[in-house]
Amino acid sequence: MSRRTIAYLATGLILMTGTSLSLLPMARHALADSHAANAGDEALALPDLMKELGGSQRKLRRMIKDPASVTESLRIVRRMQKLTAAGMMGSPEKTSDLQVSERSAFLLAYKRQIVQLIGRLLDLEEALLQGDTKIGQEIFRDLGKIKSEGHRRFQRPEE
Ligand code: HEM
Repeated sequence: MSRRTIAYLATGLILMTGTSLSLLPMARHALADSHAANAGDEALALPDLMKELGGSQRKLRRMIKDPASVTESLRIVRRMQKLTAAGMMGSPEKTSDLQVSERSAFLLAYKRQIVQLIGRLLDLEEALLQGDTKIGQEIFRDLGKIKSEGHRRFQRPEE
């Protein structure tokens, strides 16, 4: 075997080992959460989903900065993903205040905003899996912006 072949093989081995080692924490988190699925979220009404989402956001605010809390943060973020996905099935109360002709465009816009939130929650999961609390905090701030915009556009104005 030539020295060049040996060098290629050694580099390949190092890369493979590095990749598997870096995947280990992810596998651990994935396993820890594998039986956390809850049935029946689809049955929750939108205001109830939102209330729980609000509680999760409050808990995460403290936790997201703390690398020692990553497993619990991941559990909360995954729960938020499920709640948000279930929220896609609902329609805001404001829908019934609109003209019938305006409703489908309103609901489409609502779903697009929900999709945006799910996307950021997945980004947040990825940042946590990589142990990147700085990016995690940036994404967390983004969730607040998506929430404010969602409420401004889709929540019934308070009487
Ligand atoms: C992290 C993000 C979010 C949090 C923490 C959150 C939290 C909340 C909370 C606490 C309420 C009040 C629930 C109640 O007491 O009745 C609420 C209501 C509501 N939220 Fe959100 N929200 C978020 C994102 C969004 C987004 C992105 C949208 C729209 C795309 C949205 C649409 C609504 C609507 C429409 C209501 C009123 C319920 C209804 O009309 O059925 N929220 N939300």
